Amino acid sequence: MAQIFRSTVRSFATSSSRQNAIKTVTVIGGGLMGSGIAQVAATTGHQVVMVDQTDDILGKSKASIQKSLQRVVKKKFAEDPKGGEQFVSDILGRITTQTDSNAAVANSDLVIEAIVENIDVKKKLFSSLDKAAPQHTIFTSNTSSLPIGDIAVSTQRQDRFGGLHFFNPVPMMKLLEVVRIPATSDETFNKLSDFGKAMKKTTVDCKDTPGFIVNRLLVPYTIEAMRMVERGDASFKDVDTAMKLGAGYPMGPFELSDYVGLDTMKFILDGWAEKYPENPLFQPSALLNKYVAEGKLGAKSGEGFYNYKKK
Ligand code: NAI
Repeated sequence: MAQIFRSTVRSFATSSSRQNAIKTVTVIGGGLMGSGIAQVAATTGHQVVMVDQTDDILGKSKASIQKSLQRVVKKKFAEDPKGGEQFVSDILGRITTQTDSNAAVANSDLVIEAIVENIDVKKKLFSSLDKAAPQHTIFTSNTSSLPIGDIAVSTQRQDRFGGLHFFNPVPMMKLLEVVRIPATSDETFNKLSDFGKAMKKTTVDCKDTPGFIVNRLLVPYTIEAMRMVERGDASFKDVDTAMKLGAGYPMGPFELSDYVGLDTMKFILDGWAEKYPENPLFQPSALLNKYVAEGKLGAKSGEGFYNYKKK
């Protein structure tokens, strides 16, 4: 009897959590991260509204999603071109676009913000969305370096606020950091974790600490590598070789910095140094500042520590 009761309760709990599951998602920002997030959410069966400032940007975002899906089709539907076409059109059919963010959240279970990394712009957006979105809608930010709690104070729904930190490129990278602030309710946090799993990501839980898990370790490590080069302890190429062959890392810290963007690294570090001036790990690097001042930002500018210009 007890067994039957337990399994009935379990199946009821499972079906009711399924009924409560996140189905409609609004992704705000259709840039590098937002378009990747929209693509994966739609691929895993969610209804997505993607928002950006102009229809022109949104057109480019949708085109980049289509291109990315076509790469999947090439691999998975090599023998079935009709099936491949259907796959792409089903996924694109689940993504609509909007330039009015308040209208876009009207039927949303979840908002994922992936706009410019600026606290004032993010707060202004969320304050406005807070008035427009239904009560049950959960708000999240994909910020890499800003405290989630500092953004959430712009709303009256801090219990329904958290962080979903995806990695670039979103369709390829398996990890999702699910971040809670002290006010995040257990119900909200569980829904966010379940949503991450429904997106076929491996989720890890983290408090609202600078850089969450990955960047909190990766940024100081990379800056320490720059300090080694500043002191003349080793060349940057030898540091990269050492970390690849000695530590088994797929990229060395200088290759990684070029990939992420040296301006982005500097932006993150400067933000942390300003907020936590007592932490020696967050102190500036003269070498990094020099490269950024010279416009050598990494792969995207054609030159960083390495040269990416086609010869
Ligand atoms: P991005 O510059 O490629 O895209 C940002 C998009 O937001 C642009 O298309 C812009 O037009 C749009 N936008 C700006 N203000 C807006 C507003 N008020 N309403 C609607 N759209 C607006 O930037 P990216 O790289 O996609 O980064 C977005 C967020 O994701 C940032 O918070 C960043 O820290 C975070 N992030 C970035 C990662 C990366 O590797 N690039 C990795 C993980 C997180």
